Amino acid sequence: LAQGFADDLLTTLCLATDAPIAIAPAMNRLMWANPATQANIATLRSRGILVFGPGEGDQACGETGPGRMLEPLQIAELAMAALSPGPLLEGARVLITAGPTRERIDPVRFISNRSSGKMGFAVARAARAAGAEVTLISGPVALDTPPGVRRIDVESAEQMHRAVQDALAGTDIFIAAAAVADYRSPAPAAQKIKKTDTSLELKLERAPDILASVAADARRPRLVVGFAAETERVAEHARAKLVDKGLDMIVANEVGEKLAFDTDDNALLVLWEGGSQEIARGPKQRIARELVGLIAEHYGRRGQARG
Ligand code: C5P
Repeated sequence: LAQGFADDLLTTLCLATDAPIAIAPAMNRLMWANPATQANIATLRSRGILVFGPGEGDQACGETGPGRMLEPLQIAELAMAALSPGPLLEGARVLITAGPTRERIDPVRFISNRSSGKMGFAVARAARAAGAEVTLISGPVALDTPPGVRRIDVESAEQMHRAVQDALAGTDIFIAAAAVADYRSPAPAAQKIKKTDTSLELKLERAPDILASVAADARRPRLVVGFAAETERVAEHARAKLVDKGLDMIVANEVGEKLAFDTDDNALLVLWEGGSQEIARGPKQRIARELVGLIAEHYGRRGQARG
């Protein structure tokens, strides 16, 4: 590579490409330390070729020392980091809701749901990694705040609504990943409700629809993205929500006993006016990165459309 030979397929390909090149050397410790090798490595580095490793440890020849190939997973991670398209959302202000809400019934009881907040937190992490300034408004979850993300903790739908309203001004992208309660007790009991021999009737009223209110707000962000957890006819129900709530994009997933909630895996169907894209099943972190890529693409397009 350093001499520019092209006498096999690999070296020919390396000479004939303008793609980035990374190498992961693997050799005996003395070969690696040899000045000829080191000079060649310096030449390659000076031409912008990335050098992953080598590591140190047991070698195939039986010796121990520097020259060991990095583990394949390490190489894959370094390659992904080196080839990632850079800060797609640099400078964008992103507001995200995540997790469940809790609606009090009395001082010791509440109504909630199975949302773990993992998807919303993964999206916050990915948006931050893409260069965005991220505010995450979270219901009660057992998750660490992603590095560099501003987090506001809330409990009820009402508190989440207020926190979103307070943070909305100047937001470029709003992503509603929270599983917000649809109903709440109009007047939570001041004391613990005593059990009796008869049945108990709870009267519930609608909680505010945070997402719909943001989409209708005078301070509407350039891109408003909702989530739709559905147990059946996913695409149809999600598209109806896209229209009814006045969204730019909706991210649908199928939920059920073994799907989506409180798991580390997810599969998504992303819909917008005139288009859709599936994101294949996989870890929420990877899916979140792909989703943020799509969001960034649409955000960029909307920016251009407005000049
Ligand atoms: O109508 P549905 O609850 O299925 O819509 C889901 C989407 O709406 C999610 O993005 C969720 O975060 C948002 N939502 C909300 N406030 C509510 C109910 C849902 O922001 N009260």
